[in-house]
Amino acid sequence: MNRILVKEETLDASYLPSRLVRRERELDLTSRRFREALGKGLPYHLLLTGGVGSGKTALARRLGQDLERGGRLAGFPVKTAYVNCWRRASDRTVMLDLLRSVHVSLPDRGYSLSEMLDVFEQGIRRNPQHLVIELDEASSLVRQETKLVYLLSRAQEVGLGSISLILIAVEDLFPFLDPASRSSFGVTHRLSLAPYDRAALADILASRAELALRPGSVDRDVIDQIARIAEANGDARFALELLAGAAHAAEDDGASAIASEHVRRAKGSLLPTVSETQLDALSTNELGVLLSLSRTLKGRGSSTTSQKLRANHTTLLEELKAPAMSRTTFWRTLKELERDGLVSLEAGESGESSKVAMDELPASYLTTLLEERLGRGRASKR
Ligand SMILES: Nc1ncnc2c1ncn2[C@@H]1O[C@H](COP(=O)(O)OP(=O)(O)O)[C@@H](O)[C@H]1O
Ligand SMILES: [Mg+2]
Repeated sequence: MNRILVKEETLDASYLPSRLVRRERELDLTSRRFREALGKGLPYHLLLTGGVGSGKTALARRLGQDLERGGRLAGFPVKTAYVNCWRRASDRTVMLDLLRSVHVSLPDRGYSLSEMLDVFEQGIRRNPQHLVIELDEASSLVRQETKLVYLLSRAQEVGLGSISLILIAVEDLFPFLDPASRSSFGVTHRLSLAPYDRAALADILASRAELALRPGSVDRDVIDQIARIAEANGDARFALELLAGAAHAAEDDGASAIASEHVRRAKGSLLPTVSETQLDALSTNELGVLLSLSRTLKGRGSSTTSQKLRANHTTLLEELKAPAMSRTTFWRTLKELERDGLVSLEAGESGESSKVAMDELPASYLTTLLEERLGRGRASKR
């Protein structure tokens, strides 16, 4: 079989690509600030926020690696300690992880936080370094009135390097910090990552596809389709999951390349967004337009033009022996479908013919569902 996923692990959320597209500016800025401070022997603290899949973890880990590889600053090597705090939301459990990062291990009980900090300092004393501590998913830790943030952001290891702190979370943690810690996270110490837009998602997908997929197995139209679907949340993780899912669907089909239909199938299995109840709520006009759309799309591309759709819809009405539909009604119906989240519309260049897309379900499946419903409607009218 012709494999499409030749290096699947590079699509995994835990894989850190050597180059982060579309975050060059943020990486540059933070890297400069850290190097500047550490070069003076001072720590630098950062509060990094942004939505799910906005690249917070990737940015922090890329930054950490780049700093480590950048060589000594003010005479000390840079080391990063990354801790995901999601499941270890207490100062003591996070501290145990940090101890391991300076190669000290303590039994999980019997030590107070300050005793642990003493041992931590001893660990650093043995290996003087700039330590950059990354506390990922730090919301619950900080909301629990952590003392660790205060203690670590105040640690001044004079002559032993410095301890810097990067707090990473979906929400802005500043309001939850104690007043003393807040002074470490002033405005130049906060970076909020905007959600990725469609173009950025497409670039990210293309760069990761290049790593993971056989050359020529995915074309730009499919990349754009996935980017369009993921755009609603600007979530790169979801976009990459979709790409992986679509690649699997294509392989299962024995296809040599990913088609739009595979993307819809992957999306359907990731989040079944269209329920049959939702279809039950549609008017006959909507069902008809949607059916001609899914027939138009079946096996052919991710979107079509409103002109082509209208022509196919007219044919469908003739086939159903239903009265023709005026242009205005056709447009109103399309708008209704858009409002229901079933199709997406995009103004075309001339303004006359718009792009119409349906990403919710595999077109073949939707066609079956709709034909069934329209058939039932006709039967009951008789
Ligand atoms: N700019 C980017 N370039 C390439 N891959 C990216 C980029 N931003 C995010 N990713 C990838 O998207 C996925 C989600 O990113 P992640 O950093 O885990 O998001 P967050 O931590 O904000 O939820 C990861 O697989 C990551 O490698
Ligand atoms: Mg993350």
